Formats: sequence, structure tokens, C-alpha cells
Amino acid sequence: MTSTDVRPDTATGLSFPPGFTFGAATASYQIEGAVDVDGRGPSIWDTFSHTPGRTHLGHTGDVAVEHYVRYPQDVALMKDLGLDAYRFSVAWPRVLPTGAGAVEQRGLDFYRRLTDELLEAGIAPWLTLYHWDLPQALQDRGGWADRDTALRFADYAGVVYDALGDRVPHWSTLNEPMCSSLLGYMAGQHAPGHQDAVEASRAVHHLLLGHGLATQVLRDKGADHLGITLNFTPMSPATDSPADVDAARRLDGQQNRMFLVPIVTGEYPADVAADLAAAGAPLPIEDGDLEVISTPLDWLGVNYYFRSVVQAVAEPTGKASPFIGAERVQDLEPAGPTTTMGWGINPEGFTELLLRLRDLAPGLPLFITENGSAWPDQVSADGAVHDPERVDYLLRHLAAMTEAIDAGADVRGYFAWSLLDNYEWARGYDQRFGLVHVDYETQVRTPKDSAHAYAEVLRQHRDGV
Ligand code: NOJ
Repeated sequence: MTSTDVRPDTATGLSFPPGFTFGAATASYQIEGAVDVDGRGPSIWDTFSHTPGRTHLGHTGDVAVEHYVRYPQDVALMKDLGLDAYRFSVAWPRVLPTGAGAVEQRGLDFYRRLTDELLEAGIAPWLTLYHWDLPQALQDRGGWADRDTALRFADYAGVVYDALGDRVPHWSTLNEPMCSSLLGYMAGQHAPGHQDAVEASRAVHHLLLGHGLATQVLRDKGADHLGITLNFTPMSPATDSPADVDAARRLDGQQNRMFLVPIVTGEYPADVAADLAAAGAPLPIEDGDLEVISTPLDWLGVNYYFRSVVQAVAEPTGKASPFIGAERVQDLEPAGPTTTMGWGINPEGFTELLLRLRDLAPGLPLFITENGSAWPDQVSADGAVHDPERVDYLLRHLAAMTEAIDAGADVRGYFAWSLLDNYEWARGYDQRFGLVHVDYETQVRTPKDSAHAYAEVLRQHRDGV
């Protein structure tokens, strides 16, 4: 791979703190394929994606990008890019096919092979225990709406730590519990595809409880670099009318504060708890839960893609809202260009978010565990993939992050989403987020211009340019 495609005007001038970690991220169901191999049990995403009408063109993760067998090649790509670190997730149903009980050693062995390959290449493994592929057997017993799932998650965390704790230094419990709970149980856009406010509120609390219980298990076993990944969408009101301001408060509450604040302070934000109770979906808190949820962490993972401008509307929008009791609230169309996901491009929102986290979570080092954009990439006649929009997005967001660092945000690392084009959940394979293009017919990988640009940024940082 060469790094000649980077545009010198934008790639230069970025400087990052010494020891800053650069990586790329993926998730098990989005890349592995091999869903019926080595004893893996079904997950809620197998069920959901195979249910007609649930995903774009009926796309599933059955094959994905065949990372389960192609991982050596993928690790070699990471090495070529010069990555310091790789963030991936373990599929719970590979390790415990029915979610609890019998351990499937062949599933653990895959992650052992993967981590050995990474360590051999000098790349630090960052392991996420849950990136949305809940064993279907646990969903059959209520899934995250059932308190028992939190306990099972802690058991699973212990099993994975016993197998990999000697070689994986960086551990994360959950990825984006907001999506697992509100998109999965309230909006119905993600597995398990339910639309039920009571279940959704229960899922929120049980995910956070599972996080806290797993954190305690991992701590007891010796984990010393432990975090959680949350997604944040800065919300601003469309106008300063009280209704719009309240809409933004409500959405900020359920999208951002509801997950961060209890972890950091041991209390849910009072306004959010009141909104949920008023909607008939109170958080099912039991004695001692908040103490567990606020078990101290070593770092906070931050996923940032875009910001939202929100307004109150007179009539329910008719769209399934992920937010509980927010039927009369909607996002405005983003101003300016959008990615193929329809998301706006707001690097300034990234700076603002990081400064807000500096204040809301003082003392907690931040790692950007995801940031990226989807574009309609194609392999050109010259054999390259020219993705100037992604290069621009990447460099502008890196610059926005350094602004926040200069203003005192303690950001220690950045993981691009994603290493590879992959299965974008209900949006299927048409949304390409990768630094590396994948031809889904042949599984051929081609680093895009953005991969070369990223490699150049990393090289300049390493060489102190
Ligand atoms: C968030 C999720 O963690 C990841 O799985 C997803 O592909 C990206 N954002 C892009 O939507």
C-alpha cells in the first residue's frame, strides 16, 4: 500500500498527544459470516435478518465479509495501515450457543487465533463483549427486558475473560446500549424488532445492570483497562420555543444522558426517569442496582457520527420513535450534504460533544471508539477506490477532535468505523463505511483512498512530522 493519495493540504498540521492510539473498529455479526460454523448458536440478528421485511432487500449477516476465515488477511491489512489497535467484538452465541450453560470451546478458539494474529502483528486487541448479537435462546426468555439476561451477561463476561484475559489488554462491556434497547425494543428497527415502551425501558436498565455486573466480574479477575462504549448525538432545539427546547431536552436525555449519567454518578437523570414514568414505562430499578451500574471504569468509549436538530410537532409523526414518550418530537432534515445513510456532516458537533464529556465525566479518559461515514464507493478503472468525501470527513473529524483535546478533553485514542465495508444492520450491504472496500461477490479487499490518507496521518504522528 502506498500513502501517496493523501492530500497534503489537509493531512498535514494535525498533531496528537504522545502515545495517542490509532485503530479501526468492527463488530462480529457485521463481518464474521460463518453463522452456523463451530457450534455457534443463533442470535437475535439471525432471526431478525431472516424475517421478511426487516432488513434492506432481506440482507443477512450469513456470509458478511467472511472474516471468520479471512481474518489473517484482514490483520495483514491492519498492519499495512500501521494501526496500533483493533476494536472487535466477541459473538456471545459462539461462546455460549444458548446464552448460558455449555461453553463452546471452538468459538473461544477463534478469538484466540484472532488475538494471537493481532499480537504477532504488533496490534493491540480491544475486545467488546456485546455488539448486539444476543443469543436467541435468551431472547426467547425475554431478552434484555428480562433481568436475568444481565446476570447471564456477567457470567459470559467471566467465561471470555478466563479464555482471553491473558492476551487482551483492553476490555469493553457493551457497544451502544441505546441502540440495543431503544432501536431494538422501542423503534423496532433493530433486533429483536419490538415496539414496546415498557420492554424498552426495562432493556435500558438491564443493559446497564449487565454492564455493571460484568465490570465487577472482570475487575475481580484482574482487568485493569475496562470501559464501555456509548453513542452520543448532540441535540439542539430548532427554535427557542419552550416546546422545541423541551423536545431537545427529552431526546438528549434518552439518547445521551440516560446512559452516561448513571455510570458516572450512580443516579439516573431525574427528568429522564420522570419522562419514562410518565409514559407508563418506569425504569425497573431494584435496591443496589445503581451502585453496581456505577462501578468505576478506566475509560469511556465515544461513538460519534452526527448531530441532530429537533422540534416538537403538533401531531404524532407516525414514524416509530426510538424515544419513549416522544411521539410528538422529530429530527429536522440535516442541512447541507449528507452521507448515504442520510446523516449530516458536523465535525463541530464532535468538538462540542467532547468538551461536554470533559465536563460530564471528569477524570475519565476518552477513546473515540467509532467515527466514520458511508458513501457509494466503487472500484474505478484504475483499480483504486476514490472516496474523497470519506477522506474529507475523516480529516475534518480528526481536526475537530484535536481542537477538543487542545481545549482540555482527555482523548487518548481514535478508532475509525470501519476497517472494512460490512453488514450495516437493517440497512444491509449498501451502506459502505469501510476504509477498505469489499467486493461482496469475490470478497476481494481494496484499500480506499481514505485508508491511504489514514495511514499517512498515522505515519506522520509516529514519525513526529
Ligand atoms: C454504530 C454501531 O456500533 C455500528 O455497528 C454501526 O455499523 C455504525 N454505528 C454505523 O451505523
